[in-house]
Formats: sequence, C-alpha cells, structure tokens
Amino acid sequence: MSFSNSLIYWYLQNKRDLPWRNTTDSYTIWLSEIILQQTRVAQGTPYFEAFISNFPTVFDLAKANEEQVLKLWQGLGYYSRARNLHATAKYVVVELNGVFPTSYKELIKLKGIGEYTAAAIASFSINENVAVLDGNVYRVLARYFNVHNDISVSSTKKVFQELAKEVLPKKDAHIYNQAIMEFGALQCVPKRPNCSDCALSDSCAALQNKTVNILPIKSKKTKVTNRYFNYIVFEDLNGNTIINQRLGKGIWQNLYEFPVIELDSIIHEDEIINLISDKYSDIANITFLSNFDVIHKLSHQTLHIQFAKVKLSTNLENAISISDLKKLPFPIVIHNFIERYFS
Ligand code: ADE
Repeated sequence: MSFSNSLIYWYLQNKRDLPWRNTTDSYTIWLSEIILQQTRVAQGTPYFEAFISNFPTVFDLAKANEEQVLKLWQGLGYYSRARNLHATAKYVVVELNGVFPTSYKELIKLKGIGEYTAAAIASFSINENVAVLDGNVYRVLARYFNVHNDISVSSTKKVFQELAKEVLPKKDAHIYNQAIMEFGALQCVPKRPNCSDCALSDSCAALQNKTVNILPIKSKKTKVTNRYFNYIVFEDLNGNTIINQRLGKGIWQNLYEFPVIELDSIIHEDEIINLISDKYSDIANITFLSNFDVIHKLSHQTLHIQFAKVKLSTNLENAISISDLKKLPFPIVIHNFIERYFS
C-alpha cells in the first residue's frame, strides 16, 4: 500500500472524534486551527467550544469587543493570535460580506493565516488538493522517508514542501491531511514513539536505518532569555488596587497586569523595597508574597515572577475594585495569582 493510503487506512481506524471534524464550515475550521496552533487537542477543545458557543458565526466574532475575545483566549498565550482572529473576522464581515473564504488563494491573504492554516482550511472545507506542513508532518515525513535535512535551515522547507506534494493523493486531501497530522500526534510522537506497534513500520526508512530518534534534525535550539518581573499589588484604604494595560509590542499586548518593576536579574528583597519606596509614596507596609513566586516558560522567554503587596495609607485615584478587575483579561500567571490571592 502507498504511504498515503496506509496513513488513511490507519486514520480511519484510529482517529479521535473531535468537534471540528464534523463540519466543512470554513469559519469553524479556521477557529479550530488557530486555537490548535497554540495548544494540544486536549487543552484546545474547551477553548474551541467556548469560542463557537460565544461566536457561532463570523458576524458574532466581528461584533465582539476585543476584551471579550482576549478573555476567552486567556491561558492560550501568544495573544497576537487572538487579536488577528478578531481583526480577520471584522475584515471578512466588512470586506467579504461575511462569507469566510474557502480556497487556499483567498485564505492566504487573510491576517493570521499562513501556509499551514490556509492548506488546512481549504482541504477540510472544500477538499482542495493542497498538502499541510506543520511540525507533526515534518516529523512523519522526515522519519518515514529518512530525510536528514536540518529543519532549522530555511532552504529545508522547500525539500519538505516538494515531498509533501509528491505524497499527497490525487483526491481526498481532506482525509489525508487529517490523517498525517493525527498520525504525528498519536503514533509518530516526538519522544519514544512505539515503533514496535506501528501500522507503517514495515516501510519506515528511519526504522530500518535506526534513525527514528534523531529525526527530524533540528540543529538550532531556540534561544531563551530570562526576565524578572516584580509585580506590585497595591491595596489602598478602600481595598482597591491598580492595574495597567500592557501596550506596545512584545508579550501580552493589550492584556492587564499590576504595576511592574522589571529587572535584569534576581535582586535582594531589600533592594526591591528601596525601588518601590523611591517610586511610590504613602506606603504603610510592603510584604513579599513569596508563596506566589512563579517561573513561567514561554517559547522564547522564561519569566521569573514575584508579587509584593504594598499597603497604602491613602486612597488611590484610578484604583479598581477586585470584582471589576476579575472581568478583565490577564496573562494566565496573573489570572492564577488573582484567583488564589483574592479568593
Ligand atoms: N492540530 C492542528 N490541527 C488539527 C486538527 N484539525 N485535528 C487535530 N489536531 C490538529
């Protein structure tokens, strides 16, 4: 049996019943794909269900305010995806009369839709004959065909694109694309795949060459920088606090947070107290909430987060009550702090 037929055969017996697989509606598929770029199926499914029930059509999403969209996205990270999602919904409503595109050519023009997502939506909605290429697909192709090109080198993309095109069946791209991704997610997993119980093991070149564990080859590791965020949780005489919206490019754009002092390294608590006292007056006392210290790993940054409670002897202008604050979108680490600290 050919590679693609073996995959499809495997898929039909092993596929998970996932909510976005029972539709050909391009809007619904788009929502699922944007969410799944960000997370695994198990974590992404409740987000997908929340988005679909709050915004059943592209008109509903376009009408929403940004805070509502960010709040639903909260916890998925990479918030520019949520903003692009919202911007694209508005664009489709205003410029395309609310008709969400289905062809690769039209989809690729939309903000936040790259080659992978355009191919996924076009194949799943209208069965357009385009191959998807994502991390799972790279891995499956690299192993099955024993391809040793380094995927951190940009010219390698072309090699895999050609290969993906070559093995794409003439029809049924919608099933084949789901199949190869599902195979990568369930069977041909990154670490310790179970090759002794694999439907494709007889013809897998990496298995024959004993290279499964080194493929795909990725020489460059992502560079991760450390950042140190010291959040100041004010409490004024009314029990209110201060939050700011994070503007500008970078992580967490448009989300809310407590006032922050960002440092280059960990420093002693006394020095932080000096920094806070220099910046703010009317301080009654400062307490470090060290039970809430957290290290939060993002793809390119590791955040070392601490919270200090600063009690004030006055009332603050621009302060917000805890109940109002809970309605706003926060980065998940701060949301978790709020849920635990103000419970
Ligand atoms: N990951 C990305 N897209 C997916 C899909 N449609 N089904 C399962 N996992 C996925």
